[in-house]
Amino acid sequence: SARVTIPLLQQWKEERRRITMTTAYDAVTARIADSIVDILLVGDSVGNVCLGYDNTLPVSMPMMNYHLEAVARTRPRALLVADMPFLSFHVSPQETIRNAGGFLQRGADAVKLEGGAKRIDMIRALVQCEIPVMGHLGLTPQSVNVMGGFRVQGRTSEAALQLLEDAHRLEQAGCFALVLEGIPAELAARVTEILKIPTIGIGAGAKCSGQVLVFHDVVGLTEGHRPKFVRPYSNGFQVLQDALASWATDVREGTFPDAQESYRLPESLAEVVAN
Ligand code: KIV
Ligand code: NA
Repeated sequence: SARVTIPLLQQWKEERRRITMTTAYDAVTARIADSIVDILLVGDSVGNVCLGYDNTLPVSMPMMNYHLEAVARTRPRALLVADMPFLSFHVSPQETIRNAGGFLQRGADAVKLEGGAKRIDMIRALVQCEIPVMGHLGLTPQSVNVMGGFRVQGRTSEAALQLLEDAHRLEQAGCFALVLEGIPAELAARVTEILKIPTIGIGAGAKCSGQVLVFHDVVGLTEGHRPKFVRPYSNGFQVLQDALASWATDVREGTFPDAQESYRLPESLAEVVAN
């Protein structure tokens, strides 16, 4: 099907056609997901999902570029969004533009960055350079130390009003879409109602313009604590481990490989090796 574009996402919000987004960190996950979803996100969640870190803070620009390049080589039809890691958009507009521009030069269609009012100047600088920006509000994982853990946000009237104002400011700064993570469903519904741009929810209820989940969570590859907003659609971990165990058993029993899975010498040479 046709390539997904930013104007198309805007049209889909207006038509109330729900948008789907998942993560891709390498060529394999990109190929599996590309024909299914509208947006592929090279998320900084690669840090905890694939690289063994406890949170996303250790993820760097070189790490993000490495994963983005692997996904971009598959030339996805989905809109390709690259996540700006911690400290890549905080130091100066110059550094922010270089980092985000580098993502676009590596094949990303847009970048995503976490935060509200405090990040408006950086977002404006990017939009000024023709770099499309997806915002991200609510439970922003790069703020884990400030939040005191991964906690639902926007639950007090003060916090809810602040989030509504941040959402407005991100739209005014030129964001083309907004991820809403870990906030009450009613608040996400209200943001979706008052903004013109689409909202993509994760742990933010069903009234957003679309939904995002980490690929490994959807297919059941993640171990350990599972947040309530994750619905695994397969036991990927068990399915893959069972396949591997069957192969290991066959090897140990000598039934893998069989004749069909082996190469043969030409008839005329068989006896040369035998002797
Ligand atoms: O890094 C990520 O996977 C994300 C999504 C969950 C929105 O930021
Ligand atoms: Na992220």
